[in-house]
Amino acid sequence: MKLRQDNKIYPFLLNNEWKESESGKTIKILSPDDESIVGSVPSMTQEEVDTAARASKQAQLEWADTPIDERVALLHRWADELEKMEDEIGAIIQHEVGKDVSSAKGEVTRTAELIRYTAEQGLRVKGEYMTGDGFPGGGKNKKALVQKVPHGVVLAISPFNYPVNLSAAKIAPALVTGNTVLFKPATQGAISGIKMIEALVKAGLPQGVLNLVTGRGSVIGDFIVTHPSIDMISFTGGTETGKHIAKEASMIPIVLELGGKDPAIVLEDANLDKAANEIVSGAFSYSGQRCTAIKRVLVMEDVADDLVRKLKEKVEGLTVGFAADGANVVPMIDDKSANYVETLIDDAKDKGATVVTTGERKKNLLYPTLLDNVTEKMRVAWEEQFGPVLPVIRINNEFEAIDLERRNKYGLQASIFTNNMEDAFRIADKLETGTVQLNGKTSRGPDHFPFLGVKNSGQGVQGIGRSIDSMLRDKVVVINL
Ligand code: NAP
Ligand code: G3H
Repeated sequence: MKLRQDNKIYPFLLNNEWKESESGKTIKILSPDDESIVGSVPSMTQEEVDTAARASKQAQLEWADTPIDERVALLHRWADELEKMEDEIGAIIQHEVGKDVSSAKGEVTRTAELIRYTAEQGLRVKGEYMTGDGFPGGGKNKKALVQKVPHGVVLAISPFNYPVNLSAAKIAPALVTGNTVLFKPATQGAISGIKMIEALVKAGLPQGVLNLVTGRGSVIGDFIVTHPSIDMISFTGGTETGKHIAKEASMIPIVLELGGKDPAIVLEDANLDKAANEIVSGAFSYSGQRCTAIKRVLVMEDVADDLVRKLKEKVEGLTVGFAADGANVVPMIDDKSANYVETLIDDAKDKGATVVTTGERKKNLLYPTLLDNVTEKMRVAWEEQFGPVLPVIRINNEFEAIDLERRNKYGLQASIFTNNMEDAFRIADKLETGTVQLNGKTSRGPDHFPFLGVKNSGQGVQGIGRSIDSMLRDKVVVINL
């Protein structure tokens, strides 16, 4: 592995000027791979954050008045610039959040595609025309023009695991609909976010239309969330953070995409080879640090031995090591996260789970662990591990699967593996999740599909079309003839 170090301070963006904080304070970002320095970002003061929020507000009316074709053209140019920077941004994502380079570059190209599709979809926003005669006393002489108007300033807060894609999935729909943006990237992921916004500035971002602030969420978070210039919040991250923000934000419209505990339900007649392939890649890619990772397997007892044998074979075939070397299972984002996963494994072992396969721990690198005979008493059966451990729970019938899922406090996605579509639909109908995948792993894309979590997994809907909807509100003008 090549050790890279970069002591550069990556500045924040205010009114299209790249600036360093007057506080002189910075946050050093270390790579999860090898602790080499990725760079530093400013730890902004409250005054600086306040100025950035106000700048976004000040630019909003003019941006909303800018013809839609110009807003769309900006997004297309942004996508082009991002593609030109694919290698550079891919390398930074890889270094900063420890993703293998092909996934990191893939994130950049996926984002360019997402932005282009968002631009096209933005052209299709339509209002409505209504007459009053559908209601007693209304009459045809009352005519309503229902317009779709932007909220104002969208606060976009993103998590570390897709520092470019999940940020752009908020920024692009906000901009195309005439909102301006205050963007707060995850601290671990901020440099990738800054580089992505560099591409937007190169594309011709008008002054003030997006301002980027950096600093720890625990320090500046509450201040921005409650800032009077903010009119809508789009947040992706952990459930506890999301719930906290929702409370603070009070009456501000908010979309929350939060944690998950997605199950793979495997019935007796499933194609077990396909199920094992999908489950292992769904559970362990990027070390399970995806909201949509498969986080528990519920398998029928009759086929459990066969499935576990196939899972074991595949898990043992995964490469483990540094992201820079292209390993499948890579170091977790930090030691704290690795410690948490280890406590879940220890708890399960203490309570009698069978360790099918595991490996050593080297700092924040955890070898993949497969646990069988996991029971409801074990924390790993319920808590979001967000790491490379997969619990298998054996069940005797579909009702047990449905019951376990209805008691799951998360409700992002679920997979069902079966060859019987009648069974698949019957079970799918009973699951309280945003999405059910039949014979495939849980995953967000393609990015124009609606993407949502229920229960503790979120509020509101993302996915290109729905994200655009969430960033607009109705405004009614009534003509009284
Ligand atoms: P996180 O710790 O909740 O952080 C997410 C973002 O919130 C970061 O930008 C963080 O800033 C910021 N933040 C923290 N405290 C804040 C506050 N009081 N006010 C405002 N912002 C605040 O989540 P993470 O560790 O980055 O991501 C992992 C979690 O996200 C997992 O639970 C995963 O399932 C979930 N996730 C969900 C989805 C989905 O679409 N459903 C997608 C990806 C991830 P700092 O970085 O500065 O702390
Ligand atoms: O981490 C959460 C992401 O939204 C998951 O996206 O299913 O494309 O990996 P993905």
